[in-house]
Amino acid sequence: MTSNILLEVDEMIKRIVVLAAGFVGMAQTAGAAAPPSLYSAPQAATGADIYTQNCAGCHGAALQGGVGPALTGTSFAAPAGHTTLGGVFTILAQQMPADRPGGLSHGQYENVMAYILSKNGYAAGSAALGYQASLASSVPLVSQAR
Ligand code: HEC
Repeated sequence: MTSNILLEVDEMIKRIVVLAAGFVGMAQTAGAAAPPSLYSAPQAATGADIYTQNCAGCHGAALQGGVGPALTGTSFAAPAGHTTLGGVFTILAQQMPADRPGGLSHGQYENVMAYILSKNGYAAGSAALGYQASLASSVPLVSQAR
């Protein structure tokens, strides 16, 4: 009888320890949330040229805005703005350049999106940004640029 109760207490303690470890893990993820890597370095490098040729005229050479809105900083993607990769990419790929919507290739849209991400404090990773996945992406975008 006694040994049964001890066993149960032992089991409860184990569960509490597991739960507590889970909370610590969650807190660490929430606190040190580095922006995810969403594109590859070659994409952003190619995207810089595509941006200069097709976008800079309206959005500014440094993405600061002009006829079109800024594509960097908090006016572009503020923490409270609920901006997502899918939201931005859908506008970009289906409505831009504003004077010829959909005028670029899928690959060019991927590259220019990668370039915009790089200018908003997102680091390159090993996986390339894909066209279809980006249209549907609910990954939040928060500019790290000031
Ligand atoms: C002829 C001018 C012009 C060109 C060229 C142009 N844009 Fe735009 N862009 C605009 C305007 C104007 C808006 C705002 C549209 C609106 O609010 O309805 C806009 C909006 C956007 C937005 C949405 C920004 C936001 O905060 O909602 C993105 C992203 C964007 N453009 C990306 C691009 C990219 C990338 C290119 C090049 C491939 C490009 N644009 C080329 C004029 C332009």
